Amino acid sequence: MAKEYKFPEGFWWGSATSATQIEGAASEDGKGMNVWDYWYKQVPNRFFNGVGPDVTSDFYHRYKDDIKLMKEIGHNSFRFSISWSRLIPGGVGEVNKKAVDFYNDVINELLENGIMPIATLFHFDMPIEMQHIGGFESRQVLENYKNYAKTCFELFGDRVKRWITFNEPIVPAEGGYLYNFHYPDIVDFKKAIQVCFNTVLASAMAINEFKKLEIKDSKIGIVLNLTPSYPRSNHPADLKAAEIADLLFNRSFLDPCVKGEYPEKLVELLKSYNHLPVYTEDDLELIKNNTVDYLGVNYYQPRRVKAKENMPNPYGVFTPDWFFDEYVMPGRRMNPYRGWEIYEKGIYDILINVRDNYGNIESYISENGMGVEGEERFIKDGIIQDDYRIEFIKGHLKWLHKAIEEGCNVKGYHLWSFMDNWSFLNAYKNRYGLVSVDITTQKRTIKKSGYWFKELARNNGFSE
Ligand code: BG6
Repeated sequence: MAKEYKFPEGFWWGSATSATQIEGAASEDGKGMNVWDYWYKQVPNRFFNGVGPDVTSDFYHRYKDDIKLMKEIGHNSFRFSISWSRLIPGGVGEVNKKAVDFYNDVINELLENGIMPIATLFHFDMPIEMQHIGGFESRQVLENYKNYAKTCFELFGDRVKRWITFNEPIVPAEGGYLYNFHYPDIVDFKKAIQVCFNTVLASAMAINEFKKLEIKDSKIGIVLNLTPSYPRSNHPADLKAAEIADLLFNRSFLDPCVKGEYPEKLVELLKSYNHLPVYTEDDLELIKNNTVDYLGVNYYQPRRVKAKENMPNPYGVFTPDWFFDEYVMPGRRMNPYRGWEIYEKGIYDILINVRDNYGNIESYISENGMGVEGEERFIKDGIIQDDYRIEFIKGHLKWLHKAIEEGCNVKGYHLWSFMDNWSFLNAYKNRYGLVSVDITTQKRTIKKSGYWFKELARNNGFSE
């Protein structure tokens, strides 16, 4: 007998994107440069096939047709990001009227098509002038971000009722200050920690401004990439390794953003290595008083760890890897193109944790998805037959369904992504869309998964 997976009434079916990854028009209509435009100019060879963020999927010019396509494949909600460097070129000062028109049009078009807009204020795209004065290490940049956020609420808050302060705020800190995949591409754990703290503070500052405006029926949240940390075994050394990974990579944001406080164990750990960030009591107070209304959960892969095999090099660089080694579990299922493990139950474990330890705060799956290289080889009858993507989504939805049945307060599921888009560094290597994009002609074609998603949304679930 087929089992039915029905989701709660009004469930959000849709997808997520970000400005740098879809808009293109990187130097059009007064847009300023962000870190990606700048970094690409410096070192184009770091980007897959030398493809930069200047054109991407040309959403800036094609948004009307794209939104029609979204509607056609069943979207009732859609997350996009506002580009700070487009709205306020340089990061401070005058608002760019052309950018206001563009975002107004996008929002209005979404609403006319019955699609709820969810707007992210920051998705990895620091205006370069702001990065040059220290990025999120700088208090001045925090102030400027706050003012940018306030401008967005004032301009678009009458229609956008769901806001996100940051998408995966830990990623620019890891990528830019530890692991060499974001600008400024330096390795400095202490700075990475300061950037993490300051981003939590910036999010609280934006929430504080948002609350002052008292916009009716409106909510503000944050999107976190939660990677459950699974230990290799129950040996105390492995458990300890997993606990530290969880503190550093999940709880460092989850706790302050949802509960308003940092975990004591994290504070103790950083203190013992003389790596506490600089902060004031007022900062902690602001964080405490400005927690999120709801949580977006991005889930792609788990983190498996084990106790370290060897002592860290005492002359080497101090990084989180001092505390654990990656555990390569035999038999793990991989998405070989992205190098990420596929483990569907992770989505359930995250949500149960949020239910039990974070007051069952309202949440939704804000990203989940599978990037595959060379999808043209799956074309049959003019359509990419991406059955693997359908299986990937179903696998995760089954666990999501179980989590909801067990009382998790989850409002929706968004795929990464609506259409193929530009990845940071990986450019167009791996394709994520329900809709394919030919990057030479910009032609859009719905994939098999797009048609499947349409049925999924229409039936508010699936059976199998
Ligand atoms: C998420 C990001 O972490 O993963 C997206 O929010 C990103 O911006 C997505 O595109 C997929 O990762 P990648 O690196 O393959 O594009």
